[in-house]
Amino acid sequence: MRIDIITVLPQIFDGPLNNSIVQRAQDKGLIEIHFHNLRDYANDKYKSVDDYAYGGGAGMVMTIEPIAKCVDKLKAERDYDEIIYMTPDGELLDQGITNQVSVLKNIIVLCGHYKGVDERVRQYYITREISIGDYVLSGGELAAAVFCDAIIRLIPGVLNDETSALFDSFQDNLLAPPVYTRPADFKGWKVPDVLLSGNEKEIEKWRHERAVERTKERRPGLLDE
Ligand code: ADE
Repeated sequence: MRIDIITVLPQIFDGPLNNSIVQRAQDKGLIEIHFHNLRDYANDKYKSVDDYAYGGGAGMVMTIEPIAKCVDKLKAERDYDEIIYMTPDGELLDQGITNQVSVLKNIIVLCGHYKGVDERVRQYYITREISIGDYVLSGGELAAAVFCDAIIRLIPGVLNDETSALFDSFQDNLLAPPVYTRPADFKGWKVPDVLLSGNEKEIEKWRHERAVERTKERRPGLLDE
């Protein structure tokens, strides 16, 4: 998979996308992440990428020209499955969306700033809009980093134990069951006997029951989906 990220702040991604699992995925050649600094596509000597909103009002709007120039260049080089805009008024990200996107070959992710992008970018270029939650970040970069991390770990070969993503919370609309490790007894706080029993069938049954119980308690809405 190839991800092209269009941003005015590529340095924000240094931490989140250059560590542990995501870095290893890049080292193994399972994913390529390319950054495009929108200012490199600006026309004027000030490298401006935003302007006042028509009709007035507070806040700047990201202009269409640099974005169009960057996206057109990328589209001339290869076909893209999706051109995604990170925005608080997009579709709410969930595991279903990350599963869908993780099987794609080439995607562009556009990070917004200020009051957002000129509406014509959304009309004529963007194929999907994604929000990571009902709160407003100061830019789309952190949202894009979250989104990319969630997708990348689903790509086959990225996780060491390939089956482990299958048992994540949300993968079957259930939260994950509780987990324990050594010691089996800490200050008298014991690990449930069944997990020490070696009986795989009983353990599986226990885990499923706890997952359902936890989902009912914390996120009952997931069970209706
Ligand atoms: N940009 C600003 N806030 C955002 C959010 N919640 N999700 C996606 N992009 C955003």
